[in-house]
Amino acid sequence: MSKQGEGLVVCVTGASGSIGSWLVNLLLARGYTIHGTVRNLRDEKETKHLESLEGAESRLRLFQIDLLDFDSIAAAINGCVGVFHLASPCSVDHVHDPQKELLDPAIKGTLNVLTAAKQLGVKRVVLTSSISAISPSPNWPDDKIKTEECWTDIEYCKQNELWYPISKTLAEKAAWEFSKEKGLDVVVVNPGTVMGPNIPPTLNASMVMLLRLLQGCTETYQDFFMGSVHFKDVALAHILVYENKSATGRHLCVEAISHYGDFVAKVAELYPEYNIPSLPRDTQPGLLRAKDGAKKLMDLGLEFIPMEQIIKDAVESLKSKGFMS
Ligand SMILES: NC(=O)c1ccc[n+]([C@@H]2O[C@H](COP(=O)([O-])OP(=O)(O)OC[C@H]3O[C@@H](n4cnc5c(N)ncnc54)[C@H](OP(=O)(O)O)[C@@H]3O)[C@@H](O)[C@H]2O)c1
Repeated sequence: MSKQGEGLVVCVTGASGSIGSWLVNLLLARGYTIHGTVRNLRDEKETKHLESLEGAESRLRLFQIDLLDFDSIAAAINGCVGVFHLASPCSVDHVHDPQKELLDPAIKGTLNVLTAAKQLGVKRVVLTSSISAISPSPNWPDDKIKTEECWTDIEYCKQNELWYPISKTLAEKAAWEFSKEKGLDVVVVNPGTVMGPNIPPTLNASMVMLLRLLQGCTETYQDFFMGSVHFKDVALAHILVYENKSATGRHLCVEAISHYGDFVAKVAELYPEYNIPSLPRDTQPGLLRAKDGAKKLMDLGLEFIPMEQIIKDAVESLKSKGFMS
């Protein structure tokens, strides 16, 4: 990997998370110095895996932040030319208090990060949004492949109590508004369901989805799935849109637009020894499949790791880390 980041200091919020750890790993390999944020500096489950990455000893400094505490965020961003804002609660399970558990940290947290970035002279912010800010979008025309122009339907989400898509959509919209009003350079990555070798000792929501499937779960994630993507490719996408000044707007980040049913069928084919449920192929009503759904990132040079390899890497990771036998 080229050392394009040598001498540059960037901040990664949510560094301890599954995607964050991969991003820190690739940024270190590229020569960057990183201010990584965690929620609790004294919790080894958040810090140890980061501190053991190659280059971390000399070029990774960890900061404790809370997304609702502006000063903690500003301290982490101070001295950085770029910010990768990943930290956000990520759960598709039932939550008791959506405002407190999902919406406030996602939306107010994003605005805190952007405000600090603007005040401290950051040149570019990469925001990790999601396909959950693109879909569910039941009014999108059935004969049109979903693109970055498509936005999640907030009313549909409210009616169905889909709080995670609401949190990601409103956070991304708030970021675009801030960028326009205050003149801050923001670029967005919208990953699908992210899986692969898990670096932290705990699993993120998408790896838990896969684990549950391998244990026989029949959920179809109708409102949450649009395609899978490897951890490495999501991290690379963040770096590509950061380094390519021509990159603008949103970037759908999936190896292909596909249905959860396609994914499940591939897992069953690769791992017949597990109790994989047989689900219909079309699990996302009206979603048109597309091999080059992430065309914008492909045009920037990203060659996506195919679904088969994503599954193999993810399952082997679950096994080697003792989450399943
Ligand atoms: N996983 C996917 O399939 C997927 C798909 C699309 C987009 N995304 C987005 O990618 C980002 C990272 O997700 P992930 O899959 O890597 O999940 P993850 O492993 O759960 O990471 C989330 C990170 O955010 C931090 N965080 C959460 N709430 C916080 C708060 N109130 N204050 C400070 N930090 C907080 C977490 O800190 P702790 O470690 O202390 O909890 C963790 O570092 C999120 O923005 C998520 O919405 C994920």
